[in-house]
Amino acid sequence: MFARRHIISTRDFTKEEIDYILSRAAELELYARGSKTSDLLSGKILANLYYEPSTRTRLSFEVAMKRLGGEVINISSPETTSVAKGENLVDTIRIVSSYCDIIALRHPKEGASRMATSFSTVPIINAGDGAGHHPTQTLLDLYTIQQEQLLDSLRIALIGDLKYGRTVHSLAYALSLYGAKLFFISPEALRMPDEIKMDLIEAGVDIFESTDLRDVIKEVDVLYMTRIQRERFPDPTEYNKVAGTYRITTGLLAENPRAVIMHPLPKLDEIAADVDETANARYFTQAFYGIPVRMAVLSILLER
Ligand code: NCD
Repeated sequence: MFARRHIISTRDFTKEEIDYILSRAAELELYARGSKTSDLLSGKILANLYYEPSTRTRLSFEVAMKRLGGEVINISSPETTSVAKGENLVDTIRIVSSYCDIIALRHPKEGASRMATSFSTVPIINAGDGAGHHPTQTLLDLYTIQQEQLLDSLRIALIGDLKYGRTVHSLAYALSLYGAKLFFISPEALRMPDEIKMDLIEAGVDIFESTDLRDVIKEVDVLYMTRIQRERFPDPTEYNKVAGTYRITTGLLAENPRAVIMHPLPKLDEIAADVDETANARYFTQAFYGIPVRMAVLSILLER
């Protein structure tokens, strides 16, 4: 059902398709840990094209491919390639797609991955397009939530930069398929875009919005923190006004000792360092799940 499809937005999936990917990821966990080996994707090449910084997404795609016996080519500093000579994305995609079997693309412009699908002869996976979407991050977020047995009656607070945060855009859409109750907590200037809220309301999602995390902390199962993204602000003084608005501390957690804390990472100061040691913190495990989930995505798309 997926062979040779592009993955651009979580809105392109049905719930059954997402459930299928999550079940494949569960089957691949031992391979992701290296306890079992596989050559399922031997002879296949992934091109990792990153026009924006990345640690987890790029490395976990690379590890996912290699754990399944595939190969990887990388552009992680476009300034060392013909991009520096002025080559446009369209030409780069045309050429790179003739060199590989699948492309993971991260780009600062919203819509770049969708545009790339018109010029690529191989599947494109959107690994983040500006403030747009980040569908494979959402899949690993859902996998993490499922491991906590919370996916079917979830109450989740999405906290921080809901305006520019592509991870929360993708996640909110996907959770609309699972009947989750969504609590949007952000500074006024970084609220979830109206267009997304309208879509969610139309899909029947129960939404609550506030600027104050204390309004909801006792009511939720998951606190999904995000970084306030300095690089997306047209004006740095606007960033300075909202940086540091939210911070999870062990003191705050005393108000809801069962809360599961997730974060797509990287984190700055929005989570106090001693929270890392608590049983509530799930973000490092969540980052590991990027491997089985991306193994599932790659194997499904490259199925012979
Ligand atoms: C996120 C991203 O790039 O959108 N990181 C990630 O992929 N895990 C979040 C962020 O950069 O803050």
